[in-house]
Amino acid sequence: MPLGSLLKIMVFTLSWGVSAHATVQLPIEVMGPTGTSSTVTVTVPSVAPVTSLWMKVHGTSYAGKMSVSINGGAFTSLSNSTMGLTIADPERSYGGIGSNYAVIEMTLALPANSVPVGTNTITFQFNGTDGNSDGFRVLEFNFLDGTGTSVLPPSTFTYDDPNTWTAPAPLNTPSDIAAGKVLYQTATLIQSPLSGAPTLTAHCADCHTLDGHDLKYFNYSNLSIMARAKFHGLTDAQANQIASYIRSLTFVNPGRPWNPPYQPATNIDTLPVSSWAAGGGLDALLPRDSAALNYVFPQRHLAQRQFDQHLADPQHADDADGISAPRLEPLAAPHPPQGRAHRRRLGHELHQLQRQSLLQRGGDRHRRHHHAELRRLYLHQQLGRA
Ligand code: HEC
Repeated sequence: MPLGSLLKIMVFTLSWGVSAHATVQLPIEVMGPTGTSSTVTVTVPSVAPVTSLWMKVHGTSYAGKMSVSINGGAFTSLSNSTMGLTIADPERSYGGIGSNYAVIEMTLALPANSVPVGTNTITFQFNGTDGNSDGFRVLEFNFLDGTGTSVLPPSTFTYDDPNTWTAPAPLNTPSDIAAGKVLYQTATLIQSPLSGAPTLTAHCADCHTLDGHDLKYFNYSNLSIMARAKFHGLTDAQANQIASYIRSLTFVNPGRPWNPPYQPATNIDTLPVSSWAAGGGLDALLPRDSAALNYVFPQRHLAQRQFDQHLADPQHADDADGISAPRLEPLAAPHPPQGRAHRRRLGHELHQLQRQSLLQRGGDRHRRHHHAELRRLYLHQQLGRA
């Protein structure tokens, strides 16, 4: 065989070997009618055997809402009591699936040898609405080995970029956009697809903003807007026109649906004010309540007694919050999601509670305990009622 041909075969084999593994675009949006599912294909390299599936999911808001199947096997329905499902903290301690945590990290133990080296599929399924929700988003996932190490390399994943989104075909002409705006503001809707659900007097524009600003700002995808329009009883064509209208808007769009609005972050001042409502992102959330102490009490290096005396002097009371701006003080609790009434006031109240509780109690142990109590109260009662 001529050397040239041999080289060509080698190059072909090499490049095939490097690029053969399947890629998956995140997030995976599983939204639509009961039974809507999404299957992804991944290539498991030859490393330690897979023992579990780790997932970070936005919108697992009730027990049994979501199921997972590996390689076409039986579906496992996810709830706090699912065998082999471990929900991460802090969300586990505050109620896990069905709590006020919109984003939950969890790990599902898998039977031995269920995920061989090579091609595997994972199917995520939406099991039906509770009358409020039309699905969920898998923000990240990976297979783990017995030591908890991720098995799929980062090159497995790509991330959807909202700035590449365009009005969806086929109904995306200027007249479709104009029709979409009229539908957004005037179309008659049903509350949900549940049988017997009432017809609404409100339109999209009454509950969202008059012009659709919020859907653009928080980057709801075409898929999620269309699924939601159909959830409210509109046709495919009407849903398509509404999505085309939202894509035609030119407002700034720094948000993502899973990022808690106005979530404080130490770097928020480096962003334009127009980005503040988008919040500091999920990475700004502290892993536990006690981590907030360092931000609220930057002077903790002072001996505790000195510190308490220092605060007891009214002149120094403000020193307790050395940063002095709630938007810069990270929390372990996510701000309430969009679509909940009074979210800004409640976020503000959470800060007041955090500060007061930390200020009024002597001793770290008490402070921590009191703060945890307040936060539990806040999340379960205030947000639950909002
Ligand atoms: C009666 C008030 C109301 C009306 C009318 C309404 N929405 Fe909503 N919408 C909400 C609320 C509340 C939520 C949050 C639901 C939840 O808890 O998940 C929401 C959620 C959404 C979401 C996000 C779902 C997700 O997570 O992807 C989209 C997109 C959306 N609505 C679009 C629309 C469109 C388009 C219309 C008109 C066809 C519409 N809505 C009509 C109140 C309303």
